[in-house]
Amino acid sequence: MLRVSWRGKLGFIFVWLVAAAASLGAQLPGGSAAGKAMKNPVARTAVSIKAGESLFQKNCVFCHGPQGLGDGKLAPKGVHPANLTDETWVRGASDGEIHEVILNGAGPDFKMRGVKGRLSETDIWNLVNYVRTLAKTPSPLPKPSTTQNAY
Ligand code: HEC
Repeated sequence: MLRVSWRGKLGFIFVWLVAAAASLGAQLPGGSAAGKAMKNPVARTAVSIKAGESLFQKNCVFCHGPQGLGDGKLAPKGVHPANLTDETWVRGASDGEIHEVILNGAGPDFKMRGVKGRLSETDIWNLVNYVRTLAKTPSPLPKPSTTQNAY
């Protein structure tokens, strides 16, 4: 279990404010306090990353591409999947926010639908752990208050 950072605690206060304003369940550009406050219960181990990779190959590659560059050949017309290797996390850079995008889809247009009902919580966290390894500068293993949204 990770300790809650001061940032996490602050985030927690905002959860209720933002949850009231944002439609629950949608991970919108800008991220969400609910996502920030969420803690990844699955350690980023080699086993978890490997499991995430195989899930990614089955569920995500046709849009995000084999390296996560956002260049999947089968992305529907008009859909521009995010580049998951850059420094920019439009919908929030924390593990929890990435979890929310995968679970609920990328709002507000939901060209990426969420995996709710299709994948388990563990699968989703494994995907989060894998997605974090795609960045050119892989994010350091979770330490309190090192993530900063790039928007
Ligand atoms: C139908 C195509 C499609 C599929 C399939 C898809 N995505 Fe996406 N994804 C998108 C689009 C479109 C966006 C939003 C791009 C934008 O910001 O406009 C997105 C955004 C994201 C983001 C947020 C990136 C950011 O910068 O905040 C993550 C993380 C993500 N996808 C992961 C996944 C994972 C993991 C899977 C597989 C479970 C997946 N996606 C499947 C199209 C897809």
